[in-house]
Formats: sequence, structure tokens, C-alpha cells
Amino acid sequence: MIDQGHRFTSWPLVPGLDGAGVVDQVGAAVERFSPGDRVAALFAPGDRSASYQEFSVVKETSVAKIPDAWSFESAASLGVSYLTAVMALGGGLQSPLPFLENGPTTGFVPSSVLVLGGSSALGAAVVQLLRLSLPGSRVFTTSSPKHHAYQKQVLGVDQAFPRESPSLVDDVKSATEGGCGVDAIIDAVGAGATQSKIFEAFNKDGPKRYAQVWTGDDEIRVPDGVDSVLFRSRDLPQIQGHENVMKALQGLLEDGKYRPPLPLRVVGRGLPGLKEGLDIIRGGVSGEKLVVNL
Ligand SMILES: NC(=O)c1ccc[n+]([C@@H]2O[C@H](COP(=O)([O-])OP(=O)(O)OC[C@H]3O[C@@H](n4cnc5c(N)ncnc54)[C@H](OP(=O)(O)O)[C@@H]3O)[C@@H](O)[C@H]2O)c1
Repeated sequence: MIDQGHRFTSWPLVPGLDGAGVVDQVGAAVERFSPGDRVAALFAPGDRSASYQEFSVVKETSVAKIPDAWSFESAASLGVSYLTAVMALGGGLQSPLPFLENGPTTGFVPSSVLVLGGSSALGAAVVQLLRLSLPGSRVFTTSSPKHHAYQKQVLGVDQAFPRESPSLVDDVKSATEGGCGVDAIIDAVGAGATQSKIFEAFNKDGPKRYAQVWTGDDEIRVPDGVDSVLFRSRDLPQIQGHENVMKALQGLLEDGKYRPPLPLRVVGRGLPGLKEGLDIIRGGVSGEKLVVNL
């Protein structure tokens, strides 16, 4: 976001969307939190609302209490990927969200979904929500092979495929019922821009729903007949029950039904650690979430 200028129109401005910490003060109308509570939150770019600082101000609906056993580092890895995964299912697939109070209870229920980029934070969050919301659907993913054991044993995908395999399309189709292909693809990393062959993994007689995350680049063009929907976290207000999204996360954490999407790497302490972390991200990360302890 900093490098591409998204939501950063002038400087100085404090960045940072993910974070966790202790509630210091609450406003008079706040009901769910008290000073001292350990929480994760959804922050927003801005001088008071961003997470890359020691104190910030967020709305009550953007906050979730974390269980005692959770570290702040784990909790800080949750926010954006969880929120965007809610959008992938609720906005991209337009599927039911049974874990969300007052959320959609009906919608698209694909028999099989391929998640492109299961080793990204978003992809791993999407897989977790698919398992919760669409327990009858087969869930497949692509990534580098070194992450497949984690995706199968920890996140619960049915099958994981090497993202660069020349037989990827055939292998995905073979894993579906009757070898027909998948009903839906959730593209968590913008892979469709360079892997246009992946659209051949759709069941040609199925709904061919392609949910693509907004990466900051142009929308990915799709073949005729593919039903493409762009999703992004900022569109959360379009989802029925959106005001309960962090309350739902709190419930999932309490019940042990949701975990940090990826293994964590603590890359530094204090504000200089943020620069270190951002520089590592610029070089590319693979299957891990970087955290800085301020
Ligand atoms: N608009 C929004 O609201 C919003 C919100 C959140 C994220 N995003 C976007 O969503 C994308 C993912 O974000 P993130 O933070 O979750 O990413 P991330 O964790 O940094 O993603 C890194 C992973 O991407 C995987 N990858 C890259 N190209 C791939 C391909 N062709 N096929 C399969 N996997 C591939 C890599 O896999 P391997 O190392 O396994 O090869 C790597 O593990 C980014 O483009 C981000 O900008 C948008």
C-alpha cells in the first residue's frame, strides 16, 4: 500500500492495518471492552487509527478479545487476512457465512473450490473459512510443495497442488467428482494474471465462479463464460451482518475454530523493526506471517 500509494495520498501518515495489544481507554458508549482487555483489531491508515504506533484509536466493532493463551504476536497476524477472507466468501463467492451473527444464511454452495495461493496469508485464511462455512465442499489449493503438509494437516485442504506443475489443470480436474473440474476458484494472490490456463480447471458445465482479490493491479481478464467477481476488504459494509465480523472472530478464537493463518516470524522489536519487516516483504515472503513487537 505504501509503495503503490493505495489509501496513502499525502505524507506524513501513519500506516498499519494489522495489530494487537491491550485496551488502554474506552469511550462512554463502548459495551464489549474494558481497559486491560487483550485484543486484536482492524486498524486503518491514518494518524490516530493505524497500528504502526504505540497507541491508536479504533471502533468497538473493529475489535476482538483474544484468549489468554494467545500471544499478541499471533493475534496481530489475524486481522486483514481474516477480514479479506470474509469478503472472499461473502462477496466473491456470495456464499453463506454461518459463523457470522445476522450474516447471510443462504447463497452459493459449490461442490468444489480451488484456492490459488494457499501459502499466502489470505489464502490460508480463506481455506479456514471455507472449512467452517462450506463443510460439504471439497477444498483444493496451489502453492510451493513445501507448504502442502501444513495446508493438509493444519488447515484441512483436501488436496494441495504444486503451483508450477505443468499438469496442474489435469491434476485438479482429476481430484474432482467425475474428473469434471471445480465449480469455483478463489484467487488469493492474483495468479490468474499469469496463469490463464487455470481457467481450464473449471467444470465446463458448472457455475465457473472466479473470485479475485483486488491486488492493486488491473482487474484480471477472464475467458467468456467465467463469472468473475472482484473482492476487497474495504467492501465489508456490503456484507449482511458486517458489524459483527470481529465479534464472530472472537467467538471462533474462544471455540478454538480459527488459528493464525500462517507460521509466524518475529522480525524485530520497536519501530525500526517495521522498516525491516517491510523490506523483507518487498523481497517476497513464502508461507509465513511477519510480526514486529513494538
Ligand atoms: N484488496 C484487499 O482488500 C486486500 C487485502 C489483503 C490482501 N490483498 C492482496 O492479496 C494478495 C495476497 O496477500 P497476502 O498478504 O496474503 O500475501 P502473501 O502472504 O505475501 O503471499 C505470498 C504467497 O503468495 C504465493 N504465490 C505467489 N504467486 C502465486 C501463484 N501464482 N500461485 C500460488 N501461490 C502464489 C507464494 O507462494 P509460494 O511461496 O508457496 O510459492 C507466497 O507464499 C496480495 O496481492 C495483496 O495485495 C488485498
